[in-house]
Amino acid sequence: MTDSAIGRVRLGDGGPEVGVQGLGCMGMSWAYGPRDAEASRDTLERALELGVTLFDTADAYGQGGNEEFLAPFVKAHRDDVVLATKFAISVPPDQPTKRIIRNDAPYVRQAVEASLRRLDVDVIDLYYMHRRDVHVPIEETVGVMADLVREGKVKHLGLSEVTAGELRAARTVHPIAAVQSEWSLFSRDIEAGVVPEARRLGVALVPYSPLGRGFLTGSFADADQDLASGDFRRTMPRFTGDNAVANVALLEQVRAVAEAHDVSLGQVALAWVQQRAAVHGLTVVPIPGTTKRGRVEENAAATRIVLTQEELDLLEPIAGKVAGDRYADMTFSSAGRE
Ligand SMILES: NC(=O)c1ccc[n+]([C@@H]2O[C@H](COP(=O)([O-])OP(=O)(O)OC[C@H]3O[C@@H](n4cnc5c(N)ncnc54)[C@H](OP(=O)(O)O)[C@@H]3O)[C@@H](O)[C@H]2O)c1
Repeated sequence: MTDSAIGRVRLGDGGPEVGVQGLGCMGMSWAYGPRDAEASRDTLERALELGVTLFDTADAYGQGGNEEFLAPFVKAHRDDVVLATKFAISVPPDQPTKRIIRNDAPYVRQAVEASLRRLDVDVIDLYYMHRRDVHVPIEETVGVMADLVREGKVKHLGLSEVTAGELRAARTVHPIAAVQSEWSLFSRDIEAGVVPEARRLGVALVPYSPLGRGFLTGSFADADQDLASGDFRRTMPRFTGDNAVANVALLEQVRAVAEAHDVSLGQVALAWVQQRAAVHGLTVVPIPGTTKRGRVEENAAATRIVLTQEELDLLEPIAGKVAGDRYADMTFSSAGRE
C-alpha cells in the first residue's frame, strides 16, 4: 500500500475488514460498452495498491466470464483481496434482457460450486444472494448459505436488494455482513426501510452503482446517443429521451459542489454516498465500477472529501426529482424494495 492508501472499516456482524471503498468489476466483462482486458487488469492492481480490498463480482456478470476474468488476479493476491460474488440470477443466452431468479437449495449449492470453480478458490469471502426469489422463504435460502459457511466454502453472507423485512428474517438464521443495494444521489429509496434496519442490526451497506452507472460523472448525457449499441444502460428509463434531458439538469447542483472543492462530479457523488455512514450511523463501503487506472485513482481520492452541511442540503432534493425508474423491468429489484 502507498502513503495515500484509503481508510479501512469492518463490515457488519463480524464481517471482514476492508478498504472503505471497494471496486465493482462487472463492467470489466459485461453490460457496459467495449472490453479492454489489459486496462482492467491494470485497474485491479492499482486499486489494490490504493488500499481497495473488496472486489465485487457475480456469477451473472458475463455468464461466469467476470469471475473467470478475476481468477488470476485473486490467485496472485489471495491474502489481500476480499472476494465478493453472488448467486440467484441467470440470463438466458438468447434473451440478454431477461432474468431468471432462483433461491432454492439445489440451485444455491450448484451455483456456489460453479463460482468456486470459475474463481479457482477454495473459499468465497463474501457470498451474496443477488436477488430474492419470492417463491422460496428467505430463511430457507439463508439456511443453505449458512451451511456453506459451516462447510468452509463461504466465509461471510450478504444480501442484495432486499427489503427491511427480508433482512430481519434472514438475520434470524445467520449473521449478515452486508446488504448491497443501489444507493446514490439518484437512488435513495433504501433510506426509508433497509438502512435503518441495517443500522439496528449492525449490518454494513455496500452501495452499488454509486455513480448512477456513470451518469453522475457527466460522462454521458443520453444513453441512446452516447453509448455503444448493446450497452445495458440503453434499456434504462433514466438515461434516455426526455428523462435523460431532465436528469442532466439535476447535475447542476453536483457541479456547483464539485467546483467549490475543485474535484470532479463523480468525486462529489462518491463523497456524498460515503458520508451516508456518518449521516445514518452505519458502515458504508461503496463499490464504484471502473475499468480505468486513472479513474480508480480519482474514485479512491474521493474518500478524503468531506462535504459541508450546506453542500449536503444543496444535494438533498436531487433524488426526489429524478425522472424514470432504475430498471425498465422493476422486477429486477427485490419485490417491495420500492
Ligand atoms: N447487486 C446488484 O444488483 C448490482 C447491480 C449493478 C452493479 N452492481 C455492482 O456494483 C458495481 C458498480 O456499479 P455500476 O458499475 O453499475 O455503476 P457505477 O459504479 O455507478 O458507474 C460505473 C460507470 O461509471 C464509469 N466511471 C467510473 N468511475 C468514473 C470516473 N471517475 N469518471 C467518469 N466515469 C467513471 C465507468 O466507466 P469506465 O469503466 O469507463 O470507467 C462505468 O461506466 C458493479 O461493477 C457491480 O459489481 C451490483
